[in-house]
Amino acid sequence: LQVFDFNKKLKSWYLQNHRPLLWRQTSDPYKIWLSEIILQQTRVAQGTPYYEKFISDYPTVFDLAAADERDVLRLWQGLGYYSRARNMHFTARQIVAEFEGKFPQTAVQLAKLKGLGNYTAAAIASFAFGEAIPAIDGNVYRVMARLFGIFTDTLSNEGKKEFAAVAVQLVSHEDPATYNQAMIEFGALQCVPVAPDCKVCPFNDICYAFKFDMQAKLPVKTKK
Ligand code: ADE
Repeated sequence: LQVFDFNKKLKSWYLQNHRPLLWRQTSDPYKIWLSEIILQQTRVAQGTPYYEKFISDYPTVFDLAAADERDVLRLWQGLGYYSRARNMHFTARQIVAEFEGKFPQTAVQLAKLKGLGNYTAAAIASFAFGEAIPAIDGNVYRVMARLFGIFTDTLSNEGKKEFAAVAVQLVSHEDPATYNQAMIEFGALQCVPVAPDCKVCPFNDICYAFKFDMQAKLPVKTKK
């Protein structure tokens, strides 16, 4: 299967199957940033009401920057991993102070901000600014490991490099935002961690894990 056909099939699956999540209806980097920070450690169902309340209390990066940290932390109560909220507050102030409230527009620049790793930086750069860069979260590691039979530990530096190298070949340059949302959603809904329903998968004709019945063995996650 050529990259072009893979992308076509993936996009068509996405258009028919994706959830209309709130942060997919916007190209505002601030809202996308918030959604990705929440979703790092929180399920969509639990995170969505927090996302809505946060955006309603702090609609822009200026509002967040002007807020008292204690109020921000109070809003985060129940989500855990409070350093996420503290880092967001810190970084909102930095974006206002250093960039007049405008987000840096490339993944390389975004990754320099506190609390933003490679994944979050790539997600914002592609969803908000259309940069053709793959955003590789746990969902995407699983999809790639199974489809292509990649057994390198996804938690090792070697694994991160190998997956990134393959992902760079795969990412759509026509519509990187939809490509990344589609890979994430495909992992979240179809290529699920336990007992995926491979009979209805559009890629079961090319999938390494399906062919060799290795779904339960991939991805490899051992180091940590
Ligand atoms: N998990 C991480 N990012 C996500 C997104 N943009 N949509 C759904 N789930 C996600």
